[in-house]
Amino acid sequence: MFDVSAIVWLLALPICQGFILSTGSGSERVCFGELGCFDQKPPFRSSSRPFSVLPKSPADLKTQFLLRTRATPTSDVQEIVSDAASVQKSHFDGSKKTKFLVHGFTHHGKRQWLQDLAAELLRAEDVNVIIVDWGNGAGLPYDQASSNTRVVGAQIAQLINAMIKTAHSSPDKFHIIGHSLGAHVSGYAGERVKNLGRISGLDPAGPYFEGTPPKVRLDPTDAVLVDNIHANGAGILSIGMGTKQAMGDVDFYPNGGAEQPGCDSNLLKKILHTGWNAVTLGLYGAEAAVSCSHERSYYLYTETINSVCPFKAFPCANFEDFDAGKCLHCNGNGCSRMGYHADKSSAKGSLYLETKSASTYCGYHYQVNITADTPMDGEVHIQLHGTKQDTDLLPLTKGSGEIKNNGDKVSHLVVTRTDIGNVTGITVKYDKTAGLLTTWMYPDNWKVMGVSILEGKTEKTSSFCAYGKSIKSHSQTDFKVTGQC
Ligand SMILES: *[C@@H]1O[C@H](CO)[C@@H](O)[C@H](O)[C@H]1NC(C)=O
Ligand SMILES: *[C@@H]1O[C@H](CO)[C@@H](O)[C@H](O)[C@H]1NC(C)=O
Repeated sequence: MFDVSAIVWLLALPICQGFILSTGSGSERVCFGELGCFDQKPPFRSSSRPFSVLPKSPADLKTQFLLRTRATPTSDVQEIVSDAASVQKSHFDGSKKTKFLVHGFTHHGKRQWLQDLAAELLRAEDVNVIIVDWGNGAGLPYDQASSNTRVVGAQIAQLINAMIKTAHSSPDKFHIIGHSLGAHVSGYAGERVKNLGRISGLDPAGPYFEGTPPKVRLDPTDAVLVDNIHANGAGILSIGMGTKQAMGDVDFYPNGGAEQPGCDSNLLKKILHTGWNAVTLGLYGAEAAVSCSHERSYYLYTETINSVCPFKAFPCANFEDFDAGKCLHCNGNGCSRMGYHADKSSAKGSLYLETKSASTYCGYHYQVNITADTPMDGEVHIQLHGTKQDTDLLPLTKGSGEIKNNGDKVSHLVVTRTDIGNVTGITVKYDKTAGLLTTWMYPDNWKVMGVSILEGKTEKTSSFCAYGKSIKSHSQTDFKVTGQC
C-alpha cells in the first residue's frame, strides 16, 4: 500500500505538488444511491484545494468495516456491511459503546497502530471496535484521497444509522477516532449522524483542509464532543502534515503541536533521514522518518487510554509561555486530559502540555524558579525529591549565561516521567561554563536566595529558602522545604 511513489510524493509535496496531482475531469457531480451526490464545486474547490476532484465510487473504494470485540479480540475480524442482516449476524452489541478507528493517507486497516489502538481500547472497556479500512481510496494522488474521504464518511454514517435503527443503539454511544485524512472522514460521518457522541481527531490532515470552511473539514459541530491532538502542524514548507488550526471543542497541542521531540524538525534533516531509512529499513522506516511527528499523534492517543499518568493539559496563550512554565494553572476547570479521557473534563479551547521523546510519553510538569544573589554562567541541573520517589538529575537551564545580575531569576519548565508525589526537596547542581574572557565576571560559588516549585498536577507551590546558600561550581547542594523566606 505504501509504495515508493508515496515517499517521492511526500518529499516532493512542497516543491511540485501540481505535477503529480490528477487533473480535474469534466464531470461536476457523482451520485451513489443512498449515500447521495457529491460535487466538486466551491467550497470543495477553492484556492486551498485547486486540484479538487470527484470522489471514487463505493465499488472502487471497497471500504471494509472490521469488527473486534472482547469475544473476538485478535482472531480474524468480522466484516459487516451497513444492512440490518449483516449487523445482526455479527458480534456487534448495540447496548455497548462503539469505537470506529479510521486511518489516513496511504494507510490501510491492517496497520499495526490500529491493532494496538483497538487492543488498548478493549483492555480499557467492553466496547465494539470497528476498524474502517479504506486503503483502496487512501492511496495516491493526495487530491483523490482527500476527496474520497467524503464517501467513506458517508458510508460510516450509513452504518451507524443502520446500527441505531436495527441494533437499538443510540448516537451518543458512538465515538469515531480518525488519524490524518481519517479525522476529516470522521467529520463527514458526524455531519450525517444527528448528535453523534464524539470524534477524536488525531493530527487532522492539513493540506486541502486547513483554512477551509467548516463544511469541508472536521469542525466542532460534527459531534457533541470533538477533541483533537495537533502533532505536526508545522506548515507545508517543513512537510507538516497536520493542522495548527483548532478544529474541535477542545484542541490539544503537545509540545506546541508543530513537531514532536525525538523527530526531525527541519526539512533537510527530514529528507536525509527518510532517504537513509528507505535504504536501511525499507519503506515503513522511510515513512516513519518523514511523518514521525504526524504518527506520534496515534502513539500518544493509544498511550492515554490505560496510562496512570494523566496527560494533563493546561490553557495558555501560546506554547512559548507554556514552555516557560507560566501556564501550570487550570484557572478553575480549564484543564483537561489529552486523548481518550478528554471527555472527563468540560474544558474547551486550546490546551498545552509537553511529552517525552520516546514511549512512555506522558510527563508531569513543574515550574522551577531559582532566585540568585550572584550572577552565574553555566549549566544548572536539578533533582526533585518527593514522597513517592526522586527524579534523575535533569537539565534546567536551556542556554548559558541566563543570570547576568544579582537578583535575577531562572524560571523553567521541567517535565518528569514519574509521579514523585509531594515535593519534599530539591538538589541543585551548578557547572560554571563561562569562557576565559568572561570568567572573572562570575564567581565560582553561585549564591542562591530561594527556590520555588509549582507542581502542575496539584497546582501547589513549594518554597525552599536558601538565605544565600552557595553552590560551588561542579558540585551540588540540597534544599529542603522550609516555607517562605
Ligand atoms: C501530599 O500532601 C497532601 C496534603 O497536602 C496529602 O493529603 C497527601 O496524602 C500527600 N501525598 C503523598 C503521596 O504524600
Ligand atoms: C516563577 O517566576 C515567575 C516570574 O516571576 C512567576 O510568575 C511565577 O509565579 C514563579 N513561580 C513559582 C513557582 O514561584
